[in-house]
Amino acid sequence: MRQQIYRLDSSDCTLLLLSIDYAIPAVAYYGSKLNSQIDAKTMFALSGDAIPNAKLDSRTQLSLLPENSHGFFGEPGLRGHRNGRNFTHRFTVENVEQSADHLCISAHDIDAGLQLAIDISLDAQSNVFCWKHRLTNQIETPYTLDYLACPTLPVSLPMNQLTTLHGRWGKEFQQQTVELAAGKFQIDNRRGRTSHEHFPGMIATEKTTGELSGKAIAAHLGWSGNYRLMIDNISEHQRYLQCGELLLPGEVILKQNQSYETPVLYTTKTSGGLSKVSQQLHQYARKNLLPKWTRTTRPVHSNSWEALYFDHDMDKLIALVDAAHATGAERFVLDDGWFVGRRSDNAGLGDWQVDETIYPDGLHPLVDHVRSKGMQFGLWFEPEMVNSDSTLFRSNPESPLKHAPYPLLPARNQEVLDLCQPKLFEYLFHSMSILIEEYKIDYIKWDMNRDTLNAGADQQASQHKQIHAVYRLMDALNKKHTGLEIESCASGGARVDFGVLQHTGRIWASDNIDPIERISIQHGFSLFFPPEIMGAHIGSKIAHLTGRQTTLDTRAILALQGQTGFEFDSRKLDDEERVTVKHYTDIYKQNREWLGESLLWRLPSIQNCLHVRGMVSQDQTQSLWTVVSDGSHLQATPGKLTLHGLAPEAIYEVTCLNADLPYLAQFGKAMPLWMDSNSLTLSGELLMQLGFMLPYMPSQTALLLGCRVAGTKQ
Ligand code: DGJ
Repeated sequence: MRQQIYRLDSSDCTLLLLSIDYAIPAVAYYGSKLNSQIDAKTMFALSGDAIPNAKLDSRTQLSLLPENSHGFFGEPGLRGHRNGRNFTHRFTVENVEQSADHLCISAHDIDAGLQLAIDISLDAQSNVFCWKHRLTNQIETPYTLDYLACPTLPVSLPMNQLTTLHGRWGKEFQQQTVELAAGKFQIDNRRGRTSHEHFPGMIATEKTTGELSGKAIAAHLGWSGNYRLMIDNISEHQRYLQCGELLLPGEVILKQNQSYETPVLYTTKTSGGLSKVSQQLHQYARKNLLPKWTRTTRPVHSNSWEALYFDHDMDKLIALVDAAHATGAERFVLDDGWFVGRRSDNAGLGDWQVDETIYPDGLHPLVDHVRSKGMQFGLWFEPEMVNSDSTLFRSNPESPLKHAPYPLLPARNQEVLDLCQPKLFEYLFHSMSILIEEYKIDYIKWDMNRDTLNAGADQQASQHKQIHAVYRLMDALNKKHTGLEIESCASGGARVDFGVLQHTGRIWASDNIDPIERISIQHGFSLFFPPEIMGAHIGSKIAHLTGRQTTLDTRAILALQGQTGFEFDSRKLDDEERVTVKHYTDIYKQNREWLGESLLWRLPSIQNCLHVRGMVSQDQTQSLWTVVSDGSHLQATPGKLTLHGLAPEAIYEVTCLNADLPYLAQFGKAMPLWMDSNSLTLSGELLMQLGFMLPYMPSQTALLLGCRVAGTKQ
């Protein structure tokens, strides 16, 4: 038997693949970095399992593309056929190309007329591996592709805890952890966008894994359309994970020499717990995915949506700009409601021209005013959509994705445009470009407010093509308008993934800006995405989505966990509130440069109701910590907080940065002793080992703690 071993090393991880007799390789090892070398023969001997009774007579491998023809009874990595023929396959490796951070394995099945490329690359520093497959039809008969998974990976049996994220509009990224047992755990998304419902990522851990220690493997599919995530357990191969795009029937039929490429599956492994998983993914995204502009100073936004909704009026807008500017806003964003016919969400989508009945001189008076304050200007679009009450729809009733003769099923009174129609694509590109140029728009809030149904064009499914067309439109605009920033918003956080982040660089994580609801939303978001790309706006005293009333300090402190901004109506702030908002935006501005590269530490919650997270600068000289309460602690006081990620030998100064300290002090007879002077000078070691007392924290209060090397400026 011929055995071949392939190896890739990142800073903390080693991947070993083993191929036997030119079959598609299997993962023989994926774990902590190995210093020793191992040859193929030894690896083969180590991987050769016992052959049990009542099974096949030969050994089978869980390959990167598991095949029935190799004795695999689970989910094959490829499903497809040629009009019923070639329903199975058996690939042979024909060529391998390798560098330090890239492995490309080509295999073919002459009988099936198929060629497969397995592509694995890695970012050594962040320990993130990227996996994808490309399938090519080599013969004349068309090949109907039903499913091509990204490379399939083994997950060891003790990793039996699975964390995934789920939700709905206004409650995205809710963490769920289940214990894996026999059978499958599967998530299918058929909503035509990444969705509120599920997030295309999962983290398998051991039972003992927590935020700060323990083994974990995270997998995330970078794709904004339909997908399947699956983790299965069959008796021959223990557990394996498999993810891929869910294709609609007949959606991909490969003609000769045509290829289909899977989205990229990103994985990262650690034995350092969930915070470490996040740090690795954040570092990867910053270095490899996010547009360059995300590495520049991130301005404080003021967004018109919750302040005015559809009540666009030049005097009100000018007053809003003035008030927002006075409390520190640096970019004004005109949200939904500015274009022709858009007086409510019933009409107008698709008609991307300024409504002259409200803006007789166009947006110029507003934009000029914004600029006169030294602020940037941003504009809302929802390019993929059309209202039936719009000129675009009336002149082109064939514009939506649909399957005739079935009726369209509107959501928020709108339909999804078929972006593969060249005329529509061009129309959107040009009408948006005209506005971007005329008003020198700095930033676009790119919204997408409905799930997609019957995603057809010319009687054929077109969901896959649609997502690529969305990416193409974003790219075309990015290319033409250098410096343009695009935010991904989809009724809040329904389009957040590493796919869209290659074309956009800010995320509107949820329409729910109630700070107490934001605790879990921002927690789930932070598992995969870095904090500085998350728009986090301070809302009104009474949250619009929940009716909950919270203090301005709690709202502002939660907003400091991301790129801060205002969603409230700045015109309505009283003098005291203005000072408070300014206080927190100043803190944001003083710290944002290092925050944008920071390491995120989520600490285990204290007494189940105090949620702690810290952002620590790369050089460990600065950190900001938030402690937020969403319930009553059972003990009379919260007890100690021990910090994490500091340099043990450095001397730090800790200060509580809350503007509402007198308010917090009212809830007890005395604050912790160190807070009398509101300054604590201690070594990193003592802060991480001994810790310090927290004040009594009633529900809905929040603390903001600064911790910096003594003598540096925060
Ligand atoms: C949904 C977004 O999530 C909101 O922030 C806002 O932009 C509205 N759409 C506008 O229609």
